[in-house]
Amino acid sequence: MSVAAIVPAAGSGMRLGSPINKALLPLRGRPMLAHTLRVLQEHPAIRWIILVVRAEDRRAVRTLLTRERITKALPPREGGASRAASVANGFAAVPPQAAWVLVHDAARPCLSRRLLDEAVRAAKRHGAVACGLPASLTVKAVDARRTVRLTLDRDSLWFVQTPQVFRRDWFGEALARAPRGLAQFPDDAAVVESAGFPVCMVPGDPLNIKVTTKEDLWLAEAILKSRNGAISHQPSAVSKRRHRTSRAVRLIAER
Ligand code: CTP
Ligand code: MG
Repeated sequence: MSVAAIVPAAGSGMRLGSPINKALLPLRGRPMLAHTLRVLQEHPAIRWIILVVRAEDRRAVRTLLTRERITKALPPREGGASRAASVANGFAAVPPQAAWVLVHDAARPCLSRRLLDEAVRAAKRHGAVACGLPASLTVKAVDARRTVRLTLDRDSLWFVQTPQVFRRDWFGEALARAPRGLAQFPDDAAVVESAGFPVCMVPGDPLNIKVTTKEDLWLAEAILKSRNGAISHQPSAVSKRRHRTSRAVRLIAER
């Protein structure tokens, strides 16, 4: 399989209240983005990595790519006004030889090799897949006054994660058919669905959290800490920077 991985990292982290793009915040001694990039770099099916970043983060990202030896990275692409627009910008740089496109948020640094394997394998079988978790809580739809309008049937509901993997031709066609108002799509699979292609859900990983709030930063730090080997390729650099990391996380979390 020749997979091109698009990594949208062009947000700002408003909900986290971070002074810098959250994708660049340190976790366990390295920028959040570095954890995801390492897993993608080491997967044999992934041949290209296309990062999508804001203009002001371009330099920091270049340094990161060199320091982390992310040799599969193509020149980073500029971010768009919405996440969907950023992914579309990334897609424009997918090499013609790529038969598959994978999208994974920079804000999900706890991606495991196992989940990545499962997503790629399932994509080969189904053509388009999204990782996710079956809903474990009852979901209610409410109106502006918080009066319940609908209680949804939990058995058919899934919470969606990334990675999501698509046949390149399906994703390309879906994006081409939805050039306007991309922002209306809550995730990449929704673009593919809107073009009529079937998307299959793959059981995701509860630890593959998206860092959105300051509490998530603590969680991500703990999850990465619990994974021996996740940082083992750089033990000396990590031990030197560990103190700085926990201080940075604490400062944000205490805001
Ligand atoms: N993203 C992007 N381009 C945008 C907006 C978001 O590439 N215009 C990326 C983010 O960098 C992140 C992922 O999409 O990796 C998921 O978005 P989210 O968690 O919402 O991150 P932010 O937009 O940075 O956070 P916030 O919404 O709190 O500002
Ligand atoms: Mg956002």
